[in-house]
Amino acid sequence: MIDAPTMEEDARYFSPVHRGENYRKFLGRIHLAFNPKNYLEIGFRKGASLALSQAPTVAVDPNPMLPADFLDTHPHVQTVIKTSDDFFADCDVKELMGGAVDFAFLDGLHHAEALLRDFANTERVAAPDSVFVLHDCIPTDLGMTRRNPRDAFEHARNGIEWAGDVWKIIPILRKYRPNLKMCFLDAPPTGLVLVTDLDPSSTVIFDRFNEFAEEMDRLDLGAIGVADYVAGLGVRPTTSVQLRSDI
Ligand SMILES: C[S@@+](CC[C@H](N)C(=O)[O-])C[C@H]1O[C@@H](n2cnc3c(N)ncnc32)[C@H](O)[C@@H]1O
Repeated sequence: MIDAPTMEEDARYFSPVHRGENYRKFLGRIHLAFNPKNYLEIGFRKGASLALSQAPTVAVDPNPMLPADFLDTHPHVQTVIKTSDDFFADCDVKELMGGAVDFAFLDGLHHAEALLRDFANTERVAAPDSVFVLHDCIPTDLGMTRRNPRDAFEHARNGIEWAGDVWKIIPILRKYRPNLKMCFLDAPPTGLVLVTDLDPSSTVIFDRFNEFAEEMDRLDLGAIGVADYVAGLGVRPTTSVQLRSDI
């Protein structure tokens, strides 16, 4: 008799944990290799990833928890205490950044429609050769993808990760923005996606946003299978990326 798979072995619910460099270590390598003209971070919380930037930086978060002396010790950083939607609606981003966004890390609200808007709004003020990094789009268990963080903490394999359902923007970008170049990386805990070959003139996400949001709503990771979703991305080891030639 063959034993039924345990939950840990069930490809619908789990994929092996990522084994590459921690996402912040990899981001730090990008900063050093790319030496961007400027940097935009959406969602900076305590400033751990923000602190990696040496470039003129704009950082957006409605509920920041920065150490009291952070801005004194990082004078090149300007914070905007707003949701990203309000930031893009209210601010002249290029004026604030001193030009097109060169490097962006999108790590704000972990809801698919929020990340899709952050992506489209950032791309509009970027350049074709800018580099974007998306966080949390390569979940390794179903529990961490719950939209409510408390549910995620209760159901995630390790009880501490909340990726939310931002993974859903990947099938949308692949289908409707096939010219974007995406590189999927095994950075723990929830993966990184490098996006290049951007098109600031593209309007398809804005024009068809409601349709894409409905399509994302219908995507079901349990039905796709977490392991099959991750396998379908062609995830690469972070250490295999030659930053100077690959981006
Ligand atoms: C995972 S934390 C960011 C962590 C940080 N990037 C790091 O790696 O050290 C996500 C942040 O997104 C912020 N956030 C939540 N909703 C947001 C929104 N609508 N716009 C921008 N940021 C948002 C939260 O306040 C939180 O600080």
